[in-house]
Amino acid sequence: MARPFYVTTPIYYVNDAPHIGHAYTSVAADALARWRRLWGDDVVFLTGTDEHGLKVQRAAEAQGLGPQELVDRHSAHYREMGELLELSNTDFIRTTEARHRTAVQQFLQAVHDHGDIELGTYQGLYCVACEAYYTADELIEGERCPIHERPVEHVTEENYFFALSRYQDRLLEHYAQHPEAVQPQARLNEVLGFIRQGLRDFSMSRKSISWGIPLPWDPEHVTYVWFDALFNYCTGVGYGEDRARFDRYWPVDYHLVGKDILRFHAVYWPAMLMAAGEAPPRCVFAHGWLTVGGEKMSKTKLNAIAPAQLVEEFGADGYRYHFLRDQQFGPDGDFSYEAMVARYNADLANNFGNLANRVLTMAVAYGDGVAPGARAEGPLVAASRAALSGLEQGMDRLDFAGGFGAIWDLIHAANAFIEDRQPWALRKAGDAEAAAAVLGDCLEVLRIVAVLASPLIPGACGELWRRLGLPGRPEDERLPDGVEWGRMPAGVRLEKGAPLFPRIEA
Ligand code: MSP
Repeated sequence: MARPFYVTTPIYYVNDAPHIGHAYTSVAADALARWRRLWGDDVVFLTGTDEHGLKVQRAAEAQGLGPQELVDRHSAHYREMGELLELSNTDFIRTTEARHRTAVQQFLQAVHDHGDIELGTYQGLYCVACEAYYTADELIEGERCPIHERPVEHVTEENYFFALSRYQDRLLEHYAQHPEAVQPQARLNEVLGFIRQGLRDFSMSRKSISWGIPLPWDPEHVTYVWFDALFNYCTGVGYGEDRARFDRYWPVDYHLVGKDILRFHAVYWPAMLMAAGEAPPRCVFAHGWLTVGGEKMSKTKLNAIAPAQLVEEFGADGYRYHFLRDQQFGPDGDFSYEAMVARYNADLANNFGNLANRVLTMAVAYGDGVAPGARAEGPLVAASRAALSGLEQGMDRLDFAGGFGAIWDLIHAANAFIEDRQPWALRKAGDAEAAAAVLGDCLEVLRIVAVLASPLIPGACGELWRRLGLPGRPEDERLPDGVEWGRMPAGVRLEKGAPLFPRIEA
């Protein structure tokens, strides 16, 4: 039976329109999901929208809409973003769905029965944009939230509290045994530092708002939006509905998140799971922020870039390529349109596009449209094996830039091989056999590249596969056999086609 693999993105707040910061996590999760499928894993890839809470309730009031109407409208934009970027998610969850309400209520009851939820009074400072409480020393000047730089609100109300403080030792013990459970390493240190400072119980219900999931034992309260939102990851694999399915995929392999929500995922969430008797996530991987002109994108700063703007110009593949190869997944990175154009032209139009174009053009012309087939051994065999192992090493660490870079090393090697052997000169000199051998090797490289790069640029790889005269799709191949040298069949019909990546003039 195929090995289960489960990856998630955060679920996105519906009050904001999708921008390239949101799409960033989604594209990374998609590349990982597609990569694991190449290995034959049974992949669940979950994304969706976070639809409860004060922020949404207020946005709806401000726009004169009912909250459901507002969330229906905005959730659709995230679904469309997924289609635009060719995400291969297997599910799209909305926290207003009935399956989620049922699952959350069951989970809340389990935590309550365990004795970890108690009634108390909350007095404190709240940032509506974060949907999070702050202590005074965490704020920046003027009682403003450090993330949104907007004033926090003073709140006093009767709340239920989750007994997070009881989990301090268990969390430390968990991370001592599983240091790989928070990545990159620097983020683990941050999490440990926070836990060691001492954990405080946190409020997990609201009496003052109505837009949320009622507590099963006290329906005058709704569940705090983060408590509800985090649980989407369990709803998505059948919690409360299908225990066997849940046990198959849980604990999740990767939660990919931005660094701003690391604490929720690496401190609150594992403790909540422990309280309900469930296992904590195998890995929470936090990436940095994507900035524009050095600043985090936001609605208030009006610097948000919609993915659609870039996809229109670069295509879904060009888009995915930039964010996975030009940006390091981990640290912050600044978005630059000029850098995106330069890299697109250099790597996709020139290196990759040219290799495909010149090899197919010559092979079609010299062989009457019929592929010559690869030799059993050849100078590019070692380079093609190195591409697979480099990609594997990169993907194991979620180093997409480095991993996919290994494929471009192979592309460079093939281009250099052509320059060196000059098949056109061989043919002119009457050695058609030698020219066919060079082209056969290069066609084999193209086939291997189409498989390995399919998690990164699925559209172009599918089209290349078709032009190579191969049946099915590159993503149907299985690793490592699928990229074994010598599988390119002789005698299939090739097609030259238009450039895969037309040059872009900035
Ligand atoms: N709804 C919560 C997540 C709940 S998960 C159980 C939330 N939503 S969000 O829409 O504000 O952010 C979702 C994700 O997008 C987060 O991982 C966040 O870090 C990411 N990004 C939002 N803006 C970003 C950038 N400018 N750059 C990179 N990622 C950013 O938080």
